[in-house]
Amino acid sequence: MSIRWSDILEQALTFSPGSQTDLRAFFAPGRVNLIGEHTDYNGGYVLPAALGIGTWVLVRPRADRRFRFASTFSDLVVDVDATHIIYDPAYEYANYPLGVIDILRKEGVEVEGADFFFHGNLPIGAGLSSSASVEVATAAAIDALAGARLSKEKMALLSQRAENEFVGVNCGVMDQFAVAMGQADAALSLNCQTLAYQLVPMHASGYQLVIANTNVPRKLAGSKYNERRAECEAALAILRQEWPKLQALADLSPAQWPQAAALLENAHSTGHDAQILLRRARHVVFENDRAYHAADLLRRGDLKAFGKSMNESHRSLRDDYEVTGEALDALVEAAWNAEGCIGSRMTGAGFGGCTVSLVARDSVSTFTTSVAEQYKQRTGREPSFYITDIGEGVHEVSVANLWDNVITS
Ligand code: GLA
Repeated sequence: MSIRWSDILEQALTFSPGSQTDLRAFFAPGRVNLIGEHTDYNGGYVLPAALGIGTWVLVRPRADRRFRFASTFSDLVVDVDATHIIYDPAYEYANYPLGVIDILRKEGVEVEGADFFFHGNLPIGAGLSSSASVEVATAAAIDALAGARLSKEKMALLSQRAENEFVGVNCGVMDQFAVAMGQADAALSLNCQTLAYQLVPMHASGYQLVIANTNVPRKLAGSKYNERRAECEAALAILRQEWPKLQALADLSPAQWPQAAALLENAHSTGHDAQILLRRARHVVFENDRAYHAADLLRRGDLKAFGKSMNESHRSLRDDYEVTGEALDALVEAAWNAEGCIGSRMTGAGFGGCTVSLVARDSVSTFTTSVAEQYKQRTGREPSFYITDIGEGVHEVSVANLWDNVITS
């Protein structure tokens, strides 16, 4: 389905009447993680890419110390006193921009008040970072209105802080970083411990990234995510008794794994099952290694090897990290069986959400038909597909140029 920008702008102007000249627009994409899952909060490597789909925010400054929020994805209008910003479940998605406003203010980046009107074409809560894209778009808008000139990296870190401290989700840095810093046609190889990164051109000629949505809501995502983090911390604490200088699980190389495994196996009275800690840590060590080497495979255009690594990543997330579930497994196995697919895995936190596959360009339409059929047969559900480009990180767009455009909704 497509939607005309003139319709969106008219809704925005009804919500926030006034001249068009002091309305500004910012876009922040969603992201897909190609490999390196659940490694960010373990001090490891990730390899995400920004998408061509994401969230736009139209923003108009106000001088009456109020922040107001409306959007095309909900009828809710939130109107808050700028001197009294709190988290409130009734504010729904508006908690994300409110969190960013709150954290930026603590950093001395402040505006009197503003109207925010959001429009997005990312599936919400499907593992493509819809929340990070709302946060980073808001950070760019406030930064511009305040004339603060924060770096994009700083916007990413402050948006992550908003999610951790204001919204209360203990996520790592990958999503906000990719959404802020991504560049067209490149993946971002990020060391989440040092924040050193490299843009890796996607030499994927002949192949297309295909994202597929299980259309299963990620119900347990929050609680299980925190449980995995706690398990990784427990495993790290055990290993530190032997290796006090170990900073993070991802600092262990595969060569050190046998020794680490023996230490985890023999640990007692941690309040956790030793076998479970061993499996979680094994995922982190080998997934980190895969993510580190995957950047090179991509650089060299060795997509077949890259695809194999994606498959191994999924198996490890399924068997060792246990974050896939029936729907994600069914969708990935359908992709593995389909012609032209050289790699497929879940992407994001897991427990529902999306998969990402590398598919030969001339097989994309037979791929989607075959995957949809197999998935429906096994789960009774219809998947959705997104065949999107790798896009730019957060940036301002000209409101005047939006009027004549049409976008997919
Ligand atoms: C979510 C989090 C990220 C990362 C992934 C798993 O997307 O927001 O920080 O931990 O899960 O790789």
